[in-house]
Amino acid sequence: MTFRARHLLGIEPLHPTEITELLDTAQHYAELNRQGRAPRDVLAGLTQINMFFENSTRTQASFEIAGKRLGADVMNMAMQASSVKKGETLIDTALTLNAMRPDLLVVRHPNSGAVDLLAQKVNCSVLNAGDGRHEHPTQALLDALTIRRAKGRLHRLSIAICGDIAHSRVARSNIMLLGKMENRIRLIAPPTLMPSGVAEFGVEVFDDMEEGLRDVDVVMMLRLQKERMDGGFIPSEREYFHRYGLDAAKLAHAKPDAIVMHPGPMNRGVEIDGTIADDINRSVIQEQVEMGVAVRMAAMDLLARNARAARQETGVMA
Ligand code: NCD
Repeated sequence: MTFRARHLLGIEPLHPTEITELLDTAQHYAELNRQGRAPRDVLAGLTQINMFFENSTRTQASFEIAGKRLGADVMNMAMQASSVKKGETLIDTALTLNAMRPDLLVVRHPNSGAVDLLAQKVNCSVLNAGDGRHEHPTQALLDALTIRRAKGRLHRLSIAICGDIAHSRVARSNIMLLGKMENRIRLIAPPTLMPSGVAEFGVEVFDDMEEGLRDVDVVMMLRLQKERMDGGFIPSEREYFHRYGLDAAKLAHAKPDAIVMHPGPMNRGVEIDGTIADDINRSVIQEQVEMGVAVRMAAMDLLARNARAARQETGVMA
């Protein structure tokens, strides 16, 4: 199966061969980026609109850079001022934008499912840049590419995802992607931050870091997402760091060549010790950011090709 979809809304509908195609294309762009040879004609003449209803640093910046590197006209809408909780507002915004005939719409929204809803109302390709605690497909793809480059493969690895799993769309998309590629996934979190119904994911569950990290190849840390918490999920940040923060002593339980990942933004001293995050022998956090640009170039390139092919099939001039 090759990636023929119109939108990239989540990892859930993707077949492993589609994931591999996206990663192979991203790998190609990662090389071209390092050589400063990104082709400016791939998205030339196309309009990309970034609509971020939630704060973002690296995701928004990397979608913008990815689009510009491939020659798209990129526009960032200032969504912060608008109301984010009304479905009506979102649909109205979508219809207004749709009338301007964009080709690619990149959307982040605090409500799970909001991006899917929007995709049903527009004629262009929609990319989910994170919806509530539901999915963040390009993050999972960039994490997968980073792992594949560091470990030389993306199957039969033992991968620990640690921290605030309950509130994390990054964890959800990663669990699905890494599961589809046949890896062993361990979730490590205090019971208050472990999502309910986790058994159906086919993962191992731990509430002790040292036990959970034993002999893993990859340690993926998550941010404590206080903006999605409406009560006391942890006793204190100090206590949390003591039990669940990644430091050298806990990391010593993983394989000696285990890599450390974090999607950012990091809370140093809360979920990760600053010296581990900065250790160039263990941490691939900067490489994750670099791969983010390549993955978004690949996703937009493939979606633009699919749109072109669909137009040709229906006989409409491209
Ligand atoms: C993540 C997100 O927004 O879901 N960040 C990101 O995209 N780099 C994770 C987070 O905010 O903690």
